[in-house]
Amino acid sequence: MIAIRDCKLYIGMYPASRIAEQYGTPVYVYDEDTIIERVKEVKYSIDGVVSRIYYSLKANPNPYIAWLLYSEGLGLEAVSPGELYLAHRLGVDPSRVMFTGNSTSIEDLYYAVRLGVEINVDSASSAKKLCRLGYRGEVGIRVNPLFGAGYHKYTITGGHGSKFGVAPSQVGSVASLLRECGISVKRLHAHVGSGIADPGLYVEVFEFLYGLARDIGSVEELDIGGGFAVPYKPTDKRFPWRRFGEMLRQAIEDLGAENYEVIVEPGRYFVAEAGVLLARVADVKEDHGVIIVGTNTGINHLIRPALYNAYHEVIIADNACVRNVTLADVVGNVCESSDVLARGRLIPQPREGDIIAILNAGAYAMSMASNYNMRPLPSEIVVTRDNKIIVTRRRQVYEDLVRDYTWWPK
Ligand SMILES: Cc1ncc(COP(=O)(O)O)c(C=O)c1O
Repeated sequence: MIAIRDCKLYIGMYPASRIAEQYGTPVYVYDEDTIIERVKEVKYSIDGVVSRIYYSLKANPNPYIAWLLYSEGLGLEAVSPGELYLAHRLGVDPSRVMFTGNSTSIEDLYYAVRLGVEINVDSASSAKKLCRLGYRGEVGIRVNPLFGAGYHKYTITGGHGSKFGVAPSQVGSVASLLRECGISVKRLHAHVGSGIADPGLYVEVFEFLYGLARDIGSVEELDIGGGFAVPYKPTDKRFPWRRFGEMLRQAIEDLGAENYEVIVEPGRYFVAEAGVLLARVADVKEDHGVIIVGTNTGINHLIRPALYNAYHEVIIADNACVRNVTLADVVGNVCESSDVLARGRLIPQPREGDIIAILNAGAYAMSMASNYNMRPLPSEIVVTRDNKIIVTRRRQVYEDLVRDYTWWPK
């Protein structure tokens, strides 16, 4: 578990500062126990209502985590051939992998067909490409229900003007063109956004897909996507999984939709709270009463605050109690003014060399990291449920930053 004891942050049985000391910074540390706890919570709340749960790899494709979730009985949901390759490298059963591309090329589809995974098409042109590839079998259609939600406009993936999915008015014609070339539509899929706290919205998505499915006939599965909200701020509420399960059960009963299998595909919910980014305070200055805490990480390693104005709790690993606090901005070392990880926080006066912990950094954190400013990527460590420490990804070195350049002066 990730917890504060005696004003120190612990990950499993280890003080976070000790992990940082031993393995260097910046480092992403994941707590296996937390992931398993989230899985149990989700599974038990929707047991008997939702038939299959997929883990959305884009949240965090770390092989240890993907394998852990697969071993817990989840399928893997991929949005790119690279994620499909990861699943293939893990050696998972392809029938438990689902590919939902967008702006999908024929090469992407060919790769998915070759691996034998489940496919959702996101446009009429993708459906035609599948026909051209000579694919015969069953697929899903990703639908844009023309509504969506999310904690930021960039995380809303349904609605007019969204690039995702097939418009409801075109679903019938896409299903017909697939049928004509021998492909049957067995699933309707929608993913309408990320950071959705209202279980009612998922019920609306379900009802919407159910309505469309009845027109198509061959559909057996309704996939209502991921996006389940995670508490990032201390005041944020946890997604009410139990209530969601009950509401969905009621909707299924009311509609008489028992013959459909319901699928969900959360990513963030399983992993966000399990991750901590540990960094070292490199520099401290003051501006008009605000302490500016410069760290040896930044938006190159955690872009969410800059991209979505996302909130991450920040604490000093060995001084984690909120007393004798000062107003601080925690910033990175990237040459961009948007490189602010946390603004206007009350934390104890940081000192150069302190270890800063950025919490809830298990999802869309390392998976979105880049080498911008030619900074190496952090390493990734897992604290296992039996309190072992496993380095699952080595820290990059400078040579990694130039390895792919093919031209050098003679
Ligand atoms: C198709 C699809 N499914 C599932 C997800 C998972 O979303 P989240 O990690 O917010 O649960 C995403 C993320 O955007 C997605 O694009």
